[in-house]
Amino acid sequence: MRVISRIDEVHEFLDEVRAQKKTIGLVPTMGFLHKGHISLIERSIKENDITIVTIFVNPLQFAEGEDLSSYPRDLHNDKEQCDAAGVDLLFSPSHEEMYSQQVLTSIQIKDLTSNMEGESRPTHFSGVATVVAKLFNIAGLCNAYFGEKDWQQLQVITKMAHDLSFRVRVFGCPTVRHSDGLALSSRNAYLTPKERKSATVLSRSLQKASETVQSGERSASVIMAQIIEEITTEPLVSLDYIEIVEGRSLKSINEIKEGSRILLAANVGEARLIDNVDPYVGIQ
Ligand code: PAJ
Repeated sequence: MRVISRIDEVHEFLDEVRAQKKTIGLVPTMGFLHKGHISLIERSIKENDITIVTIFVNPLQFAEGEDLSSYPRDLHNDKEQCDAAGVDLLFSPSHEEMYSQQVLTSIQIKDLTSNMEGESRPTHFSGVATVVAKLFNIAGLCNAYFGEKDWQQLQVITKMAHDLSFRVRVFGCPTVRHSDGLALSSRNAYLTPKERKSATVLSRSLQKASETVQSGERSASVIMAQIIEEITTEPLVSLDYIEIVEGRSLKSINEIKEGSRILLAANVGEARLIDNVDPYVGIQ
């Protein structure tokens, strides 16, 4: 596996790959890799000749007072995991390499960022979109893999890639979970054992809500009330939002139907956790 920290070296490497008519898979991450990230990497390896993983904790997507400085990092372990998974190129640039000048350009995606994460973290998606746009330009023509765990992010990036005509096909991959249902997340590292146990209420409430939908309930307000009731039984979990939306446009809906998505965010101790489900499928 090649490990590269400079953008021009990535260009050189990938120009060579493309000259050999090989396809490229891109998996952007902020590191501290877990099995969720690895599932994206494995899919990319399966579907492409060459896979590039990027590791960069992007300051633009963290607001003042958020966890940028404490965000978990372990580049040594990440390298080992990428190598073992069969990654061809690991791109882990420094802050200076990515932002050598003050950034005056930002990308705003309207409507899709007005609720949920976009409302709770108003500068977040512009930071995500800006860094992902840079990564798309660094990688060039490729297939890019993102997790459904960050459902709103996946919709935002899919729309940006289309609107700005990036030569990138965006693919969503299912959420990988612990056996008790908790979605894998680098931020789970912040949880104490007690909080870790309480956090399972998030996926459990989404699963119970899915079962209620599958047995015929269609009212979004009834389903949301059921989820809130379940989550309030856990004093260590403080719900930030719960929304039921049309899955692509992310517009709130009153009546649940095929294509609807239930999304939530909660604070558990130091960790801000998000999760979501297709109620017709449930937590898997
Ligand atoms: P990060 O949180 O490191 O996640 C990198 C990718 O892994 C994202 O596409 C995310 O949705 C996916 N992922 C995380 N947990 C997952 C899980 N349990 N199952 C499946 N996929 C999972 O998301 C980011 O980084 C950043 O915002 C980034 C897109 C890299 C831009 O900085």
